[in-house]
Amino acid sequence: MQNRPVVLFLIFSIPLLLAGTCRQPPPAPPDAGLYHTNDEIIDELRRLQSQFPDIAHVTELGESLEGRKIMAIKISGSPGTEEEEPEVIFVGGHHAREWISVDVPFLLAKRLLKNYATDAATRSLVDGGSIWIIPLLNPDGHQYSVDSNRLWRKNRRNNGDGTFGVDLNRNYSFQWGGPGSSGDTFSETYRGPQAFSEPETRILRDLVAAHNFQAIISYHSYSQLVLFPWGYTRSPAPDAVLLQQLATSIADSIFSIHRQRYTPEQSSDLYVASGDATDWLYGNARVPSFTIELRPGSSSPGFILPESEIQPTFEENLPAALFLIKWTQTLGQTTITM
Ligand code: ARG
Ligand code: ZN
Repeated sequence: MQNRPVVLFLIFSIPLLLAGTCRQPPPAPPDAGLYHTNDEIIDELRRLQSQFPDIAHVTELGESLEGRKIMAIKISGSPGTEEEEPEVIFVGGHHAREWISVDVPFLLAKRLLKNYATDAATRSLVDGGSIWIIPLLNPDGHQYSVDSNRLWRKNRRNNGDGTFGVDLNRNYSFQWGGPGSSGDTFSETYRGPQAFSEPETRILRDLVAAHNFQAIISYHSYSQLVLFPWGYTRSPAPDAVLLQQLATSIADSIFSIHRQRYTPEQSSDLYVASGDATDWLYGNARVPSFTIELRPGSSSPGFILPESEIQPTFEENLPAALFLIKWTQTLGQTTITM
């Protein structure tokens, strides 16, 4: 009986103790570490524009399904105006879990701007055309990969049957619905209910319609490959020789930096897949189009590329990007056997 106050005290102090634990600072929200999230990309691109207003122009191309801004940066001698000049585009982040595919084009933008004042070769490329960069086309999926499921691939479309996501790289209209894409909503390669059903792919479609791009690189990971059309069929594309030559030059310039081999091959050699961005750009507008599958080379570590490899992966892909920009600006002057 004498112990009763003590017992009561103990009992009543339990909630206080629990509340005490709850008052600890909340765990930090998940982030992508040295990899950039969409919010960080938006901030960084805006900062670059204010640092380099004469050569950088940032545009909100539109919004993702969940209302995130999809950003582009245009780098050019006169970025505010449309000129008749070669245009080239680099796109990353079609697939949510492929974080390195966002940072490589972002770092490309940063490097072009920072080197402009001091490096004559960079200056000539920037003055000689327009370079468009969309680091992250699928911000909803990317954020979901950061917050909830690191290995998420698709966007975050609610398919209305308990499944989520359309594979943006099966949603383009050229040969949409063909082999290597799925009509099943739960599939990782679900193509969507129709071509361009997704705001994210429509954003690229509309940008391409408003411009005259001479080449594109669409960044993905992983496998260390330089892929060229076709992807929907094993038949060679009409310009297969040119595409193979360009892909080989791209792979060679990548190799020259850190001796990492990226294999140049037709997309369908990896696997047949229909409705991807590069088949669409090439099939619709005959734009030389490449998918670069970045580091690593194999499934270990697969999509989870260590942060320490962001910089070297960017470094090796820089001369490849510069090579392709230069190629668009010297078209007609270079003789390429077709
Ligand atoms: N990993 C990319 C994807 O699955 C590569 C697509 C390349 N195209 C192809 N037809 N294989 O979207
Ligand atoms: Zn991918």
